[in-house]
Amino acid sequence: MIYNLDDIEMGAPVPTDEPMRQKYFMVKLREKLKAESERLGRPLKMHCTTFGCQMNARDSEKLTGILEEIGYVETDSEDADFVIYNTCTVRENANQRVYGRLGHLNGLKRKNPNMIIALCGCMMQEAAVVEKIKKSYRHVDIIFGTHNIFKLAELIDSRLESKGMIIDVWEDTNKIIEDLPVDRKYSFKSGVNIMFGCNNFCSYCIVPFVRGRERSRNPKDIVREIENLVEDGVVEVMLLGQNVNSYGKTLDEPMTFAGLLREIERIEGLERIRFMTPHPKDLSDELIDVMKDSKKICRHLHLPVQSGSSRILKEMNRQYTKEHYLGLVDKIKAAVPDVSITTDIIVGFPGETEEDFEETLDVVRKVGYDSAYTFIYSKRTGTKAAAMEDQIPADVIKVRFDRLRNEIQGISSGLIARNEGTVQQVLVEEVNEQNSSLMTGRLSNNIVVHFPGDESMIGQMKAVKLNKCHGFYYMGEAVQN
Ligand code: 5AD
Ligand code: SF4
Repeated sequence: MIYNLDDIEMGAPVPTDEPMRQKYFMVKLREKLKAESERLGRPLKMHCTTFGCQMNARDSEKLTGILEEIGYVETDSEDADFVIYNTCTVRENANQRVYGRLGHLNGLKRKNPNMIIALCGCMMQEAAVVEKIKKSYRHVDIIFGTHNIFKLAELIDSRLESKGMIIDVWEDTNKIIEDLPVDRKYSFKSGVNIMFGCNNFCSYCIVPFVRGRERSRNPKDIVREIENLVEDGVVEVMLLGQNVNSYGKTLDEPMTFAGLLREIERIEGLERIRFMTPHPKDLSDELIDVMKDSKKICRHLHLPVQSGSSRILKEMNRQYTKEHYLGLVDKIKAAVPDVSITTDIIVGFPGETEEDFEETLDVVRKVGYDSAYTFIYSKRTGTKAAAMEDQIPADVIKVRFDRLRNEIQGISSGLIARNEGTVQQVLVEEVNEQNSSLMTGRLSNNIVVHFPGDESMIGQMKAVKLNKCHGFYYMGEAVQN
């Protein structure tokens, strides 16, 4: 999509309204970076690494969009003129990886002193992290958080003007800035934010502290964005929010998530709609009805259970019981018989007993997940669970974690094979990484299929016969559409 910066008048005072203000800085930086590139006799390169979830992946597309707009060219290597890490802090191991890589960047910056290093994302919303970077990682140039990624151009300009470390982390925001450039990773599919933040405060989770309070985008803005994406070749959208079932509650004219889905369904040319993540506590009958009747909503529901024990769920502040969750799954399966259900599970939440863990195994057996993301509980400073007594020893967690993984694998490989021999629509996504004569795509239920084909198929919907299931994927062959 062409991004228009022509409406900016550089002689006038710096605009105070967004996005005009950022456009002003983009035009200003274009000039500055062009001069720098001419001085060096080569294009300026930028590299962005994304940690964590699909929200971050989408944020990174916006950051990259701004960087390309001002003249940087993207590269796979961190040996670049601008390096940005979009960080995650949902579990401690993601934090450790960032510190490790910052050490490596220090070496690269010694060779290229003009390199700009920026850090943003969830980890930067934690004051202790920013303090640590200020003290021990002086080579970092810019730090900002989750609420002001739209300001990247202005922050780079401040850094170039001042030379000191620029830190701009907001506690929270009620702003949603529309209409900034985006560099999409895929031409045919795109994430679309429908809401930001989370109000649930599950007791283990740091997200509400780093992503702020829930706020929904205006449905008109969402529909307009998707219409533009479709015009630009997108056939599949993934609607993104920490808890999509809460969509619309805070709007001036409240609207349900199911209502939003109905509007999006009407967009001509759009073939597939995915969404993540719904919360089991408020997944409505209205949503199940919309899924049942929809031609476009994919036959996949990612429904995080976290634990199968009602006692632990209460401690987690999840606001549903094991029975409620299982009842919900039954309802969904009855309404959408070919649906694929996937989940997130945490092992080793404080106080989890062998009996509690057995309840989780029981849910896994009863639901029959096509796949499950399993996480070892990670203590996050500031959350309610971090202060709970009876943190579970690592060796106990490890044994449970392995038992859970085995259980899930045993069940899911059998389940995934259920469509063997059928012909299904596949959205072709890329050339197979191991074998370039094969193409890789996804079924509506998100399962991966490999089949002989060529690059010209990328972005198209193809009818594919699913010849053989190999555990988590199918091998197939294209048939006439
Ligand atoms: N420890 C382990 N896993 C966590 N998650 C969120 N917080 C934690 C934590 N403190 C998991 C949940 C959530 C997923 C995105 O990350 O399962 O659904
Ligand atoms: Fe975290 Fe719970 Fe919000 Fe999900 S719903 S982001 S697990 S607090």
